[in-house]
Amino acid sequence: MNNQNKITPGFNREGFSLNKSGNLEFDRCELIKLAQKYGTPCYIFSENIIRKKCRQYVNAFSERNVTFEMLYAGKAFLVKAMSNILKEEGFSLDVSSGGELYTALSAGFPPEKIFFHGNNKSKEEIEFALKEKVGTMMVDSEYELDLINQIAESLNTKVGIILRVTPGIDTHTHKHIQTGQVDSKFGISINRVPDFIKKVLSKEHISYNGLHFHLGSQIFDLSPYVLAIKEMVKLIRKIKDLEETDTLNLNLGGGLGVKYLESDLPPSIENFVNLIVDNLTKEIRKNNLIMPKILIEPGRSIVAEAGITLYTIGNIKEIPGVRKYLIVDGGMTDNPRPILYEAKYEAVLVNKINSSLPKEVVTIAGKCCESGDILIKDLKLPSASPGDLLAIFTTGAYHYSMSSNYNRLPRPAVILVNQGKDDVIVKRETYADIIRNDIIPGYFK
Ligand code: LLP
Repeated sequence: MNNQNKITPGFNREGFSLNKSGNLEFDRCELIKLAQKYGTPCYIFSENIIRKKCRQYVNAFSERNVTFEMLYAGKAFLVKAMSNILKEEGFSLDVSSGGELYTALSAGFPPEKIFFHGNNKSKEEIEFALKEKVGTMMVDSEYELDLINQIAESLNTKVGIILRVTPGIDTHTHKHIQTGQVDSKFGISINRVPDFIKKVLSKEHISYNGLHFHLGSQIFDLSPYVLAIKEMVKLIRKIKDLEETDTLNLNLGGGLGVKYLESDLPPSIENFVNLIVDNLTKEIRKNNLIMPKILIEPGRSIVAEAGITLYTIGNIKEIPGVRKYLIVDGGMTDNPRPILYEAKYEAVLVNKINSSLPKEVVTIAGKCCESGDILIKDLKLPSASPGDLLAIFTTGAYHYSMSSNYNRLPRPAVILVNQGKDDVIVKRETYADIIRNDIIPGYFK
């Protein structure tokens, strides 16, 4: 997978290579062949890249000689095969709904390694989790603490909890994906925790296992983590002073950014891990506390760059002097990120990867009935024709998991590739799937 530079000048994307016939491969699978075999649009995931990212995190922590636990944030992309990969890599799992929990359990993921997040878990979700012996409930509010305790009592069980704290720190990312700031719908405000902790410790069916914070997502500037660690360690000290209780686990959430554009230069996984370990060790020592186990729960930085989406170009609409639209067979249904966050992407024409055709600036539009359904604005590509195959990079995180059936479009297939091997891990939806839950009331018959 190393002859990337031969592909085209400036092409620097992990997992890509050219085969002997000059065709573009991803994890050694020829993309044109995958498109022929599975149809488009489809998501392609490189198993090697997913595993490599998992190991980068584990190795970076292992080198630092600290106690740690790696979780993966299921919201980024969770299907049964993904759950198996995580299990094999020794990861634990953050789920944020009954549906994610069900997916993991159906694939045989060990419940004791699951952490259940969410800012409004329903009674049914909590019951489901406790009956299935989920290891840790992440408590998002005072209301939820009571609810979990009540349900645990009714089931005659005791459950470990971690408190999600909002540390009041802003990050420099899109406002929709910031979460650690004061004005947030998530978590318990950091200044509330000292009063609240007495109640936590008094609950008979709950054991206090630690604290959590999550600052936001697609973060490039890591300085907010330094501030948050400082604040969280102060809180740990306060809890110790007030209640004589040690905080044994500190979960620092996810958030590390990834490369969508060639020009994006996110910090490396190693830098991220080292910054966390350095700062936490320093603050813990300064405050004369015992070092907690470090937990983190990245999603995007594990799967984003492991995924690409293949589309076929159909209609080409040129408005002379204004814009040329290449319209693909998917759109905001399989990638809502441009319309939600103005997210930017890059792409190549797979079948014209080394073409000498003149390049032109085009706009990649989706097929949904929304003018805003634009995947990429102003992209330079060799002159395109209907039938050309387009690959958009970095579509592994928050794409399939946020896909929809708008316009009653079936969701694409998801294919896992690994060194020349390809397997379907999610079948393409059919029209029958689309109407599966529709019911015509009897009086129409
Ligand atoms: N932990 C918690 C509590 C979270 O809320 C999240 C993401 C993560 C971990 C994982 O963060 P990551 O490592 O993936 O940045 N749909 C948006 C992203 C929403 C992130 C939600 N929370 C997007 O497509 O950019």
